[in-house]
Amino acid sequence: MAKILVIKSSILGSYSSSGLLIDELLAESAKQDSSQTVLLRDLGAQPLAQLDAEILGAFGGAAELNERQQAAVTLSNDLVAEIQSADRIIIGVPMYNFGIPTQLKTWLDYICRAGVTFRYTEQGPEGLLANKPVLLVTATGGMHRNTATDLALAHVKTVLGFVGLADQHVAYAEGLGMGDEARQKGLDAARVDAREFLAA
Ligand SMILES: Cc1cc2nc3c(=O)[nH]c(=O)nc-3n(C[C@H](O)[C@H](O)[C@H](O)COP(=O)(O)O)c2cc1C
Repeated sequence: MAKILVIKSSILGSYSSSGLLIDELLAESAKQDSSQTVLLRDLGAQPLAQLDAEILGAFGGAAELNERQQAAVTLSNDLVAEIQSADRIIIGVPMYNFGIPTQLKTWLDYICRAGVTFRYTEQGPEGLLANKPVLLVTATGGMHRNTATDLALAHVKTVLGFVGLADQHVAYAEGLGMGDEARQKGLDAARVDAREFLAA
């Protein structure tokens, strides 16, 4: 029974293209494995509290934690445990203003924990999470693939690699704001990428 962790991060709700592609992929994958379980974190619908000095202090191991800090550490531990217990991870990566949604950034802030998901050694940083397949479903209005403006994807790939999740795959939906034809082409191309991930 495959356990799939799904992280959605669009703020567009039912209009989300990354969300649409993820839902299609899950439906397809359920046909192949009816026993699969899916744990969904919809960060757009239920955002996490942004990282601030108080929460950072809690993650840094402050001796005495107040209620808010304790809640943040518990949540962070839960988010890390969700990654650890999943067989596969699917993450929606919309591009907003050349970056990732702030909601996804905050999730990354909660799963990057010194001594828990990464550590520094004399040889440099070392990711502590067990490697497993991750699909990044990226959605962009324009065309950015393999250019200097492909910053949203680069950011997520870098952070995930940093904590040990290096088995990364990408379903690329681009040109979604460039007219109906381009949008359809972009979605269809991402569907092909997603099917390849399922088949792997
Ligand atoms: C606030 C906002 C900012 C955006 N900024 C960009 C951008 O910088 N570059 C781009 O190519 N598309 C941009 N877009 C278009 C989105 O990438 C596109 O709508 C994509 O489908 C978003 O994914 P989602 O539908 O899953 O939320 C932006 C959209 C929004 C709502």
